[in-house]
Amino acid sequence: MVDSDDMVDSDDTVPVARGAGEPSARSLFALLAPIYDRLVPLISRRARRMGVALLEVRDGETVVDVGTGTGLALPRLAGANPSGRTLGVDATPAMLRRARTRIRRRRLSSVDLRIADAAHLPFATGSIDAVFSSYVLDTMEASRRQRAIREAARVLRPGGRLAVVSMARPSTPGGAAWAALARAAPPLLGRARPVRLLPRLTAEGLRAVSRVRVRQCGFPSEIVRARHPHPAAFPALSQSGVDHHSSVS
Ligand SMILES: C[S@@+](CC[C@H](N)C(=O)[O-])C[C@H]1O[C@@H](n2cnc3c(N)ncnc32)[C@H](O)[C@@H]1O
Repeated sequence: MVDSDDMVDSDDTVPVARGAGEPSARSLFALLAPIYDRLVPLISRRARRMGVALLEVRDGETVVDVGTGTGLALPRLAGANPSGRTLGVDATPAMLRRARTRIRRRRLSSVDLRIADAAHLPFATGSIDAVFSSYVLDTMEASRRQRAIREAARVLRPGGRLAVVSMARPSTPGGAAWAALARAAPPLLGRARPVRLLPRLTAEGLRAVSRVRVRQCGFPSEIVRARHPHPAAFPALSQSGVDHHSSVS
């Protein structure tokens, strides 16, 4: 299931995959790592939790958290799946070290971490039941982001599920203020900016299932759920592919 051919080198904490991530992203998140868990959940906890819940992880599955960072989603992902496998990948060693500490403290023995580029996932085609990713695609440059989405689609099994959480386009004055901050000082928000992920997911052959907007401290997030096409299970989705769109603030 895990392509060990792609792995090079390793230290005593995490296996390292070839060419993991953009160097500039790694430097930025290495700087943010020490303060990340104190600040970022203040605007993102609600959407991340909802994204994990909407992924509907079942016990025994193989689940990947792409760009797991400090592992904020891992306890809930692994908690729903104690006898399966939860794989956290990230390009930034400093972030993954914090994730490592988190899984050790929580005794999450079903979690494996590895350094890898979201655009080159070290997993075999069709080997993953569910992919989760929060606030990663919205930090990536457009062409790498599209490659990362293609990779998520590649590793998912037919009928496999995906939930992505990202900064959304603002629809309130508070949201507009966050978007202005993202434009004026990109590093402060980890280079996150509002993105419309749905068309980018469907461009890679994924079937959109739902889109939910969530706000926390005015910060607008969006959770998009999609599935790898499975002819028997999904014969008749609507033309837009979206069957649900709601907003929570
Ligand atoms: C804003 S943080 C989000 C972390 C976590 N998912 C969360 O919700 O808190 C973005 C993370 O994406 C990682 N990242 C950025 N580009 C990446 C890439 N190309 N491949 C893998 N990880 C990447 C960064 O290292 C960072 O840990």
